[in-house]
Amino acid sequence: MQEFDVIILGAGAAGLMCAAQSGQLGRRVLLIDHAEKAGKKILISGGGRCNFTNIRTSPDQFLSQNPHFVKSALKQYTAQDFINLVNQYGIAWHEKTLGQLFCDGSARQIVSMLLSECEKGSVDLRLNTPITNVSMTDGQYVVNQALRAPNLIVATGGPSIPKMGSTGFAYELAKQFEINVIAPRPALVPLTLRDDDKLFKSLSGVSTETIAKLGKVEFKEASLFTHKGLSGPAILQISSYWREGEKIALNLTPNADENWLIESKRRKPRSNLKSALSEIFPNRLAEALSQRIVNRTELANIPDKSLKEIMTQLRNWIFAPNGTEGFAKAEVTAGGIDTNALSSKTMETKNHSGLFFIGEAVDVTGWLGGYNFQWAWSSAWVASQNLR
Ligand code: FDA
Repeated sequence: MQEFDVIILGAGAAGLMCAAQSGQLGRRVLLIDHAEKAGKKILISGGGRCNFTNIRTSPDQFLSQNPHFVKSALKQYTAQDFINLVNQYGIAWHEKTLGQLFCDGSARQIVSMLLSECEKGSVDLRLNTPITNVSMTDGQYVVNQALRAPNLIVATGGPSIPKMGSTGFAYELAKQFEINVIAPRPALVPLTLRDDDKLFKSLSGVSTETIAKLGKVEFKEASLFTHKGLSGPAILQISSYWREGEKIALNLTPNADENWLIESKRRKPRSNLKSALSEIFPNRLAEALSQRIVNRTELANIPDKSLKEIMTQLRNWIFAPNGTEGFAKAEVTAGGIDTNALSSKTMETKNHSGLFFIGEAVDVTGWLGGYNFQWAWSSAWVASQNLR
């Protein structure tokens, strides 16, 4: 039997951070992953540039059954703390938009940084190591019948993008330890539309600025038409809130003046609806919209009242997705380990001393924009400071 102070399952964002910090506090750390490489999702994140945090991070950008749960960890280890670490390694970065920080170079720099931090903490990293068995004997956690520690940290993420090696392993372990799991569902995921709703099928690849709205939640960002339905940042964001059967309202003209079509008619009465729409929409979208509205006559012949109706329609296009593109395309998993089972200050389970869940495995889901990594760093850090 090999003895450690802590065994961490999963060498992704949260596992690497937790291992590095625990090691640097003088703990003997074992970090295990079944993948051949550490931090695979970090490597592909942010289009290869890793949107590693968001300077606007606050509890408001997280979904959970308990919206207060994230407060303590986010306060104990902040976006600025992670930026300081990135700066220590001289990794150049920039704010892209909406507080989102990306590497100038490559996401590989973030993984290298975390691996160096693990080395500093003398972490024993074992890749290509499936977890076959976890048990508890005499208050110690035993993994694969050969590795033992008084602390076990579960950082195996959620089942989104299974081809990256993602699994629902954390939920199986939760079941074994009688910990409740909030039903996992795909989040930050493209939405699909019924065939009759797919008027924009021909528009696959076209993107336009929108406001996507569901209940009180709304996101002003781009939407992208796909051959299956809709994607793009605004849709990915709203997808995390969407439940089957619910309708979403899309404002297709968020930046247009109140009476833009009527003004367009005054300016260019001889022009047609498609030309007027082309002033604010990409050409293919203007074409599709004008066909749908079936009014190809000159603007001068369309009464203001009808133009007003068209503007209202474009401001409030209601659609009912018939589903999502599922875990295969979901950037994250919503739901997961019930936060009621965990201490928000430490991530330790309330019913098993020394057992922690961190990162995406937990029922905490951030908005698109670096928030999910910040949750991984913050939850990992607090666990590392509170080992038995
Ligand atoms: P993570 O998934 O990173 O790590 C889990 C680890 O556990 C993996 O290494 C896996 O191999 C291992 N594992 C799983 N099951 C196992 C088992 N049974 N046995 C052994 N090991 C096991 N977020 C963000 O903030 N900014 C961004 O730019 C992006 N971009 C992005 C792009 C894409 C394409 C995706 C899919 C996701 C993002 N994200 C993101 C989300 C972000 O990647 C995600 O929230 C974090 O990686 C979660 O970190 P965790 O460490 O919790 O899980």
